Amino acid sequence: MQLWFMTGNKGKLLEAKHAFSPFGFNVEQFLIDGKVPEIIEPQCDTLDEVADSKLSQGIKLLKKIGRENDALLVEDSGLFIDSLGGFPGVYSAYVLDKIGCEGILKIMGKNIRKASFQASARFWDGQKVHKGSGICPGTIVDSIRGNFGFGYDPIFVPSDYLGFSTEGLTFGEVEISIKEKFSHRKKALDGILLSFKN
Ligand code: IMP
Repeated sequence: MQLWFMTGNKGKLLEAKHAFSPFGFNVEQFLIDGKVPEIIEPQCDTLDEVADSKLSQGIKLLKKIGRENDALLVEDSGLFIDSLGGFPGVYSAYVLDKIGCEGILKIMGKNIRKASFQASARFWDGQKVHKGSGICPGTIVDSIRGNFGFGYDPIFVPSDYLGFSTEGLTFGEVEISIKEKFSHRKKALDGILLSFKN
């Protein structure tokens, strides 16, 4: 089944391909005239609201190009740092762009380093909407480590989960197949697959 993923983030695209391909989906970036369609990033307090808005804008775009029966995936995610009241949260992409991982480490100072990645995904199967969400708890380390992944991966170590551990390595220091064992995005996409299959 062809599945369009409306994202400009190649890291997210790679993770979605990894999660969906084993179930027979051909995941491709949703492009119009060769470009990621421009959508309005809504000013919302929650990832769920942003994901809902992205999906309804995406379905309108599918209709506009006469492909409303195609499948479409959208996702919104972010890093939530406990001692910073959940910052950068829904502003994660903007904050990364402005101050980077270095800026986050400066702001953290000696604060307690508990944090989580969170994701909210929406899937239009051509007829109806499926929802999934996921949380990956972990810790912010005190230096930037690793070249894998994207975004805040080099400063985040996931908590051990279902018997898996990165042994203190950041998501930037492990392959995608390891990140997948803990990933908020994988959990959100698994939720969607479960809903779709039922
Ligand atoms: P958005 O979902 O496009 O608003 O962007 C979410 C932002 O959160 C990304 O640009 C990353 O900076 C960050 N983020 C979300 N998921 C991850 C992840 O799995 N690893 C690292 N950073 C992430």
